[in-house]
Amino acid sequence: MASMNNFEKIFVNYLNRLRVPPTVVRLLNKGNIQPTGTILEIGAGLGYTSHAIFNKYHPSRIFICDFDATQVERGKKLTRAKFGSMPPEFVYQREDVLNLSFNDESFDMVISTLMFHHVEENLRDFKKTPRGISEIQRVLKPGGIFFYWDIANQEKVEQLMHDAGYTTLLSTRKQRVFQKP
Ligand SMILES: C[S@@+](CC[C@H](N)C(=O)[O-])C[C@H]1O[C@@H](n2cnc3c(N)ncnc32)[C@H](O)[C@@H]1O
Repeated sequence: MASMNNFEKIFVNYLNRLRVPPTVVRLLNKGNIQPTGTILEIGAGLGYTSHAIFNKYHPSRIFICDFDATQVERGKKLTRAKFGSMPPEFVYQREDVLNLSFNDESFDMVISTLMFHHVEENLRDFKKTPRGISEIQRVLKPGGIFFYWDIANQEKVEQLMHDAGYTTLLSTRKQRVFQKP
């Protein structure tokens, strides 16, 4: 289920952008969480959420990553059109959450919105997600933040995070913000 069909891409790329970035920013504000330092958005699609975070918080580096190379290429094109050129703080690259290429403890924050159900074969499967969660835990710095949003398995993900010693900073029906010890 990792690759979306064209209809899904249109839905995600052009409709999610209206609701996902403002929701992420609103929740970060609500939790008084400042995305600074080095950020990874995984399963970013074209990167609209990273753009919103960049415009509001000015983190020093933001890696905008997706499994689907066409999403990454479209995201780069969109960014150049929107900002005039690629901001030096942005790195667009293809990444698989199940096998991230980054070193341990590289990021101050990891963001994942509406990605994990695409990692699984079926919406409610929980076969690959634990591997992805453990990769995110690996690349977060101590004290780092994980912003998670999905439509299934929220409680199971939260359990994995608590088992690894993370605290929940913010919780809604679909979103959670966790902090690494
Ligand atoms: C529904 S879209 C969400 C895009 C964006 N985060 C949003 O909220 O609008 C899911 C994205 O996850 C990506 N994805 C699926 N499996 C992935 C994996 N194993 N690693 C990284 N990204 C993945 C897809 O290519 C797709 O761009």
